[in-house]
Amino acid sequence: VENSLRPTTLRDYIGQQQIKDNLNVFLQAAKQRGEPIEHVLLHGGPGLGKTTLAHIIAKEMGVNIRVTSGPAIERAGDLAAILTNLGDGDILFIDEIHRLHKIIEEVLYPAMEDHALDVVIGKGPAARTLRLDLPKFTVIGATTRVSLLSAPLRDRFGAHYKLNFYNPEEMAQIIRRSASVLSMDVQDSAIELISTRARSTPRIANRLLKRV
Ligand code: ADE
Repeated sequence: VENSLRPTTLRDYIGQQQIKDNLNVFLQAAKQRGEPIEHVLLHGGPGLGKTTLAHIIAKEMGVNIRVTSGPAIERAGDLAAILTNLGDGDILFIDEIHRLHKIIEEVLYPAMEDHALDVVIGKGPAARTLRLDLPKFTVIGATTRVSLLSAPLRDRFGAHYKLNFYNPEEMAQIIRRSASVLSMDVQDSAIELISTRARSTPRIANRLLKRV
């Protein structure tokens, strides 16, 4: 149900007006240049819509999105496998990117900057590094703890967006939209009750709506 409630276009995404205005220009400009977008960092509390926004960006750009998370990538080889399977312009969404292991970060830097992957073949004196060319992909990183990101990693993102909490009017609009997606009849008084208990967070509002 949570997935069915996610808006799939910027137009349907309620709130975060500044981010939407900026993204509209950013995405249109990249499209007109015929280039993939720069790497994007999304930060903000849990349940505010970072994952939803990443999927919307992919859809608006008409590219594939591959989803993973910082702690899920355990070995450099895992990241290499993911990166070499991407297509030109594809998006790699890394949730909880502040939990990426240091060794993986080191592999990710050149991949993000030069679209290249340095692999070491062999061991000891016979070891060689081989540089593989990667497709021109885009990383969208999401984090609830931007201060935990290392400076070099943070600097490789061309665009930073901070998601804010939603105001009561936006919360009401989100709950009304979700109710309509779920074919529920809700009174304004019920919307307000849910909204005041949802801590300005759509994910909590949607959970409460579903429970009701
Ligand atoms: N559901 C969760 N977050 C939303 C948002 N920002 N806009 C519309 N529906 C949502």
